Amino acid sequence: MPRRLHPLRDPVELRHDGVRVLAERGEPIAAALVAADRVGIARSAKLHRPRGPCCLRGGCDGCLARVDGVPNVMTCRTPARGGEVVETQHKAGPGGLDLLRATDFVFPRGIDHHRLFAGTRGVGKLVQQVARHIAGLGRLPERAVPARAVGRRDVDVLVVGAGAAGLAAASALRGREVVVADDALVAGGSLALLDPAAAERAVLAAGELSLATTVVGLFRDGRGGHAPVALLASAAGATEIVPRAVVLAPGGHDGVVPFGNDDLPGVLSARAALALLRGGVLVGERLVLVGDGRFARALAAALGGLARVTRLAPEELVTARGLSRVTGVVVRAPGGATRRLDADAVVVEAPLAPGFELAAQAGAVVRFAPERGYAPEADAHGRVAPWVWIAGAVAGATDSAADGARVGRAVAAALGG
Ligand code: FES
Repeated sequence: MPRRLHPLRDPVELRHDGVRVLAERGEPIAAALVAADRVGIARSAKLHRPRGPCCLRGGCDGCLARVDGVPNVMTCRTPARGGEVVETQHKAGPGGLDLLRATDFVFPRGIDHHRLFAGTRGVGKLVQQVARHIAGLGRLPERAVPARAVGRRDVDVLVVGAGAAGLAAASALRGREVVVADDALVAGGSLALLDPAAAERAVLAAGELSLATTVVGLFRDGRGGHAPVALLASAAGATEIVPRAVVLAPGGHDGVVPFGNDDLPGVLSARAALALLRGGVLVGERLVLVGDGRFARALAAALGGLARVTRLAPEELVTARGLSRVTGVVVRAPGGATRRLDADAVVVEAPLAPGFELAAQAGAVVRFAPERGYAPEADAHGRVAPWVWIAGAVAGATDSAADGARVGRAVAAALGG
């Protein structure tokens, strides 16, 4: 089962479904819940399937919870401050009890309200009403959220993403007014997991960082030939950024490996498991590690003897077992037979898919490539739209830092003296 590897340095306390949970101050609430072996945090919107944190980077919905009366808080992007009341959404019963977990037994594949009693007069309508109550995403906040500050700022360059590529681009643009925005709680992205010392140096060289800040969108304001305007949101409020140029370095989404029950709590990306381990949280003691890549290799090396690790090729894994969380796997054996293995976590690595969404908003042409997924088309300098460039994993670069520096220089040249 998950556990912490070190005593907490600066502990704070929060409550999850009425149960006391200790957290390291500032760590993501989702990490604290995993460390406390509370991996089943959420339910899927439609089928009421159990969900747990999978990506730890705001890319899945496995960590959504009601926090202090606010629904659908992404707990992997929310720092623990102490005193938070975290509640599972769409459960029935007091405290930690969820009577709706009965659906895991009665409907092990989820409630398919499209078919369940559909066409049966009276019963079908009743089932729809029950399904609507169970599914969905949260209830409205208990009280109106107070209005927050709104500001506007003109800058030379907005860099989206504080990973290797974004930091290197910002470093190449030193001397200009550059804002680097990222919704992560700490800078460095994947580089911070793979080479923490290099990430520290890159952060120092990058200049102004705006962390825990979401780039909600990029908008063309009707001024042809200009960079898009960006809306940034953080706990402090919203800021309209009017840049002369934009560098998009959002990285990539974790790849998926299709197998049965691949959405169970306890199934995580190798990058997420490595992030938790770097934060002192072991995701399980009987790990099945599927696929190969830099995160899987770094995780295996960092684990040492902390866990029993079974390495599998993606095609060997048939299904994860368990109702509300991973309890084992079924593996394809030679000759077409299968065998069962005990496991408390399944950790998966597959090639990243480009984080293309903001580039598409900015006007980039996006095409599907079978081996990469949807990817923005860039010219030889990384430009995808007027005054918009991409760098790093989103551009398919293998060396994100070098690509970010190259794009940063291209942007500097375009902006001129
Ligand atoms: S979105 Fe939070 S764990 Fe994936």
